[in-house]
Amino acid sequence: MTIQETSLLRTSAFLDGSWIPADSGRTFAVTNPFNRELIVHVANLGAPETERAVAAAYKAFPIWSGKTAGERSQILRRWYELVMDYKEDLAILMTLEQGKPISESRAEVNYGASFVEWFAEEGKRAYGDVIPSHRRDARILAVKQPVGVVAAITPWNFPIAMITRKVAPALAVGCTVVVKPAEDTPLCALALAYLAERAGFPPGVFNVIPSDDPAEVGKVLTTDPRVRKVSFTGSTPTGKLLMKQAAGTLKKLSLELGGNAPFIVFNDADIQSAVKGAIASKYRNGGQTCVCTNRFFVQDGIYDQFTAAFAEAISALKVGNGMDASVDIGPLINDSAIEKVNRLVNDALDRGARVMVGAELSNTGPRCYSPTLLLDVDPEMDIAQEEIFGPVSSVFRFTSEAEVIAKANDTPYGLAAYFYGNDHARIWRVAEALDYGMVGINTGMISTAVAPFGGVKESGFGREGSKYGLEDYLTVKYLCWGGIEGE
Ligand code: SIN
Repeated sequence: MTIQETSLLRTSAFLDGSWIPADSGRTFAVTNPFNRELIVHVANLGAPETERAVAAAYKAFPIWSGKTAGERSQILRRWYELVMDYKEDLAILMTLEQGKPISESRAEVNYGASFVEWFAEEGKRAYGDVIPSHRRDARILAVKQPVGVVAAITPWNFPIAMITRKVAPALAVGCTVVVKPAEDTPLCALALAYLAERAGFPPGVFNVIPSDDPAEVGKVLTTDPRVRKVSFTGSTPTGKLLMKQAAGTLKKLSLELGGNAPFIVFNDADIQSAVKGAIASKYRNGGQTCVCTNRFFVQDGIYDQFTAAFAEAISALKVGNGMDASVDIGPLINDSAIEKVNRLVNDALDRGARVMVGAELSNTGPRCYSPTLLLDVDPEMDIAQEEIFGPVSSVFRFTSEAEVIAKANDTPYGLAAYFYGNDHARIWRVAEALDYGMVGINTGMISTAVAPFGGVKESGFGREGSKYGLEDYLTVKYLCWGGIEGE
């Protein structure tokens, strides 16, 4: 599999409508996580270029926000169509730099493009209100306005969708954007910029700053007063740091941070569908998503049947090079990801967990980890408290509804939770009691452009996707219009 449209493979940064090298001439290597082979070297930007990108976005803001929503929508729509035209090339690029199986890359291109398509329409509906006035001689209006220059700091696990989920609503309402893509996966971001350029966004509206120094670029983006909003997806410690830095200029923030998702299987669950949901929620992207299940809780009466069926499904998963269409699980993103999974599994085994499947490196590649199922895991083990971000399932046994709710909520995180069962009264009770921003009920797949994605507690705040995702890029301005006297 090779890329047909070679101009999608960019090695320069996209700043103010031009493709530029780093001022210093420096580059950094982008490698294939499966075999660690070099793909290309990419321009390695720093603070001075980031400041220029912010200046360009600031200059472009009145031009872009001055267009009608319909005019912006047409350009977004063209961008969406171009992304879909080059779907296969983008999927190949994604598997090359990120490692996920090619079928998942194709699905991510669709998922990423769906945000552009959806917000191209929804941007036309940033309605305000006319509020019944408290005075006969005055009228009250609330209008929605774009927040201004937006900085989007995005992760490596979804190199297209996590950009479009932020950038599409921002652009749709008239904001201009500076994107700092993850250093592991800048190529998809640059390909998106190339297609945005072809779609006709004016210079400065959409800028991409590749850099292997996220701290330097992030510092500028969170402290420059011209940036009015920062949207970040990534780890909770980094989110806290960015929030501290952004406090100096009181920027609007959206933070989509780490999770520790519970997946609860009640006695009355349909076992086959629970296993299907468990595989989807745990093993998507090799376990490297913020909404991947981190802890399985299975009720006594169904424990043996569920774990046996789950073990069988896990054993059938094929690990290897994502370019091989028969592979279900690609490599982990880098060496430290492999080290972390090894550490968590070894800690669990040392403290009494039992292996049902896997628990070892796979011989298919240096960063491939065998899909794993651990039983008898204890809530005190590191694997129950830290985000695993790898293809490892750990299972806990429970007896009562109250007990499992308490255990599921016993974490500082609150992004996604899942449960399977068929008692309707309990479905309402459990859905309401789970202290999470998103709950999958009898499903392991919850992500879509039309629903609000986001967390509570230390998983962050703000919502992405849906009409709520538009609000994050708008401010409400109140107009009090006096002097409206009778004749
Ligand atoms: C994430 O891992 O942050 C995003 C996952 C998704 O959109 O489904």
